[in-house]
Formats: sequence, structure tokens, C-alpha cells
Amino acid sequence: MSTTPNTSMTTSHEPSCKVRAGPHEGPSSPAGKRPAPPCTLVIFGAGGDLTKRLLMPALYNLAVDGLLDDGMKIVGVNHGARETGAWREDLHTSLQQFAADKASTFHAGKLDDKAWDWVAQRLEYMAGEFETDDTFAKLKQKLDQSPGGNVIFYLAVSSRFFKPIVEHLGKAGLLKEGEGGAGGAGGFRRLVIEKPFGTDLASARDLNAHILSYANESQVYRIDHFLGKDTVQSILAVRFANALFEPIWRREYIDSVQITAAETIGVEGRGKFYEQTGAFRDMLPNHLFQLLGMVAMEPPNSFDAEAVRDKKAEIFDAIQPLTAGDVVFGQYEKGPAGVGYREEPDVAPDSTTETYAAARVYVENWRWAGVPFYLRTGKRLAARRTEISVQLKPVPFRLFRDTPVDALTPNVLTLRIDPAHGTSFDFNVKTPGPVMRVGAVQSSFDYADFFADQANVGYETLLYDCMLGDETLFQRADSIETSWCAVDDVLHPKAGGAIPVHAYAAGSEGPAEADALLARDGHAWRPLKPAAVEKK
Ligand code: BG6
Repeated sequence: MSTTPNTSMTTSHEPSCKVRAGPHEGPSSPAGKRPAPPCTLVIFGAGGDLTKRLLMPALYNLAVDGLLDDGMKIVGVNHGARETGAWREDLHTSLQQFAADKASTFHAGKLDDKAWDWVAQRLEYMAGEFETDDTFAKLKQKLDQSPGGNVIFYLAVSSRFFKPIVEHLGKAGLLKEGEGGAGGAGGFRRLVIEKPFGTDLASARDLNAHILSYANESQVYRIDHFLGKDTVQSILAVRFANALFEPIWRREYIDSVQITAAETIGVEGRGKFYEQTGAFRDMLPNHLFQLLGMVAMEPPNSFDAEAVRDKKAEIFDAIQPLTAGDVVFGQYEKGPAGVGYREEPDVAPDSTTETYAAARVYVENWRWAGVPFYLRTGKRLAARRTEISVQLKPVPFRLFRDTPVDALTPNVLTLRIDPAHGTSFDFNVKTPGPVMRVGAVQSSFDYADFFADQANVGYETLLYDCMLGDETLFQRADSIETSWCAVDDVLHPKAGGAIPVHAYAAGSEGPAEADALLARDGHAWRPLKPAAVEKK
């Protein structure tokens, strides 16, 4: 995680026995950061969507910011013969399209030709199957000329290739650090693995064991792209940099927390993947648990990777295993937003895959005992909205009993992750006039009002941190496993059968049964599409 040491905080009383360096100290670029060390980035899946949509825009942005070393190389591996020139041209065209598209996260406007040329010159295409020895022999030859021997292997491929690629890399000696570099100069060898990391506890354990038989944990960078979002990293800043919030962040003051990742899109041509995966596996034990971890973790002693990851790991470990009664599944049917899931391409006409999942989660530790965390995610919902709402406990009503005030609206702090970036706080004020009445108002902060817009796709920080060797924003093997462990009973229900999947209309707020999940605790979901508030 990129943190700039706050030099104004340095005092002459700094203890001399322990100097804790900020992770990114050193000569600074204009952005206040140092360029990453030289390395070769090998992308398996060079022809895929992830490379086009996220990795290339991120590399381009890093180049614009001067955060990549001149000695960097990017080798794209994919099946199918192709000229490097054609690959470059393809990437350039899609980059231009995304840049011009306001709806894309990479809405850079016009591309900076100099920055693109810088990236393009470093791109090299290598045809190769992901499961044949020949590919890795060719790669080894190429990497022998790698600057400093530093190599990052990025697995931007379908998860079925994770094991064979790691095995081939390992057997070819390509994961050995300190060897294999130019003239035996040595260097780092890192593996970046995309999600899905397993499909349940057993498969995640198996994948971890497989990877760790060829590489050390310190070489493995498991990506959850939510952690690359500034608004997600800001959760810790909001919590720990504000005296208003830090003391109340506990069960004595917090009534409940809602974590929402609602999407308006359907399965977007990913029917095959989604049929196997479903909304629960796709989002809950990874993206939504990561948000939960950021909200619930204890303050770490520093931003050191292990300090942060230890505290987050404690949370995943404290999650009370979910049971069938804690979750609700839904599937969209035809509605105002379009066709039903079963009519989507590559989806079985009688599919029971869930496109919506809601869960009630308890974190059984001292700070959070008894506070429900309500998580929900779904496709084809009424609005695109990723956010966290923290509802505070009510104050005593006594003072207002002889006034016309009937009830007080709860205070809610909402951290908006996407597509809006910012926070809002719902609180009560006296309404104007001679009579004591109380009205709920909202105070909002929008990133765009304070900071220059950044056409950031979220992978910039992750790639940059990986090059620097900062693992703060990557998932450790133990956390992946404890997260899957918490949901294992839902994925493999014992006698009693599968979780029922309830219908909801495409474009709606989700299935009614999800409302019932909260209603039984006296709670209600925050509307995805709040009714327009009339200003008086
Ligand atoms: C991905 C899921 O990991 O995250 C997708 O596989 C989902 O199904 C996506 O749409 C959501 O990410 P974001 O950043 O667009 O909110």
C-alpha cells in the first residue's frame, strides 16, 4: 500500500533502537514516489480481457507517472502465433477506446503518445501453450537477459491454468530467486495470481499447497482487485485518522454494518464461468470479506505488510462460520432491466445458479460481538453501488418525549467505494421554525470536489506494490483459507439440501427473502435506489 512518510511528524525523540522505514522511501518521482526497480513482467494470458482492460491501462498510467524503470520489459505469453507489432497495435486500439469512454474507469481522455510509445517499445509477444515444456524453455532463454534477473509472472488466465503454469515455472527453475538472472546476477521472482483462488476450502488448500511446493509465500501475490481501489484503502484512513470515528468504532456504538456490491450489469457473456461460480463464490468470501476485513480489523502497529495482514487475518479467523439460515440466494428473471438469467447465452434454461447473494455475518471477537454485518451482492439490480454503511446505535429518546418528534433517524456513515467515491453521514438537526422538530440531513464528501480526478483502474497500486515487493494489499495463504472455511457449510450443505434460490426481477432491489433476512433482526437494507428526497 503506498504510504508517504509524514515528515512533519518526525520529532527529535524518535527511538534510535527501531527505525521503521515507510515502504516507499527513496528518490521520488513527481508523484512523491520512487520508480519501481527494473523487472520483466511476464503476462500469461496476453490476449485476454484482463490484459487489455486492466493491466495495460494500469501500466500506461504508471508510465505516465514515471513509476516504471527504463529497463522494464513486458513479455506477453498466449497461445496462437502473432507478431509483436500486431499485439501492440491491438492493445493500442483498445486503450484508445477505453480512454475515450467516460463510463470506463480508465477515462484518460486523449492518450499521451510519449507514454504509450514508452510502454509499446517494451512489449514483446511470445506464442506458447500454457501447459507445454517448450513454452517454458523458450521463456527461460528470454529471461536470461532479464534486467537484474527480476521477474514477475502474472497469471491473467483461467484458473484451470494456475496449477500447470506454476508447476512448469517451478520445474524450469524460473521461480528460483537469486539465480537465473543476467550473468547469474539474481533477483526476485514473483507470482501474481488472480481470483478465483479455489472454489472452496479444499480446492484453495490444494492450490496453496501446490504453489507453495514451488515458491515461498513471500513470492506469491494473490490479487483481490478491490484492495487496489483508493476508496477501499481509504477505509483505514477514515477509521484511524479521525478522532470523530475511531473511538466509536466498536460494538458499544455501532448497531450494524451493511456491505453492498450491487451491479446493474448481467453476466456479460461470462455465462460459462458464472454457471460454475455463482454470485456467492464470485464475490462473498473474497471481495466482500476484504471490505469487511478493512472495516473490522484492529489497528495495526504500522503499515508494514505483515502488521496489516496479521490484523486482517484475525478478522477472517473470527468470522462465525455461516450456515444456511444466514444466507439468501436469488436469481434474476425477466424484469424492467431485461431478460432473465436463464435466457442469457451459455446459461442452462433450468439453471439454479445464484446471481444474488445476501448473508448475515458475525465477527466473534471482543470489539464486534453481537454486531451483525449484512453483506449483499448481485447482478442486474436497481443500481450500481458498492458501499459500506455503518449504522450507529440510537441515543436515548427521553429529551424529545414531550415534543412533536416521533422518532430519531439513526446516524449512518456511508463509505462509497464505487461508482461514487466519497463518504456521507446521516444525522439529525432541528428543522427551522418555532417548534422543536428534528429532521434527518446528510453531509457528503465527494473525492472529485477535493482531489483531481484520476483515471485509475485500480491495478496501478497493485502492480507497483508487487514490483516494490510490498505485499500489504495482497492476500496471504492463511487468510484465503480461513475465508473459504467460514463459508464452507454454505457451499457444501449437509443433510437439509441446497440453499433455495429465489427469483427477483432484473432491475429490482433483489429478492424479498433478502429483506426478510434483515427484518427478523429489526433491520432493513438501505435502498439501492433511494426515493428522491424532497427539499423543503
Ligand atoms: C469480479 C467479479 O471479481 O468483480 C465480477 O468476477 C464483478 O463478477 C467484478 O462484476 C466487480 O468488480 P468492480 O470493480 O467492477 O466492482
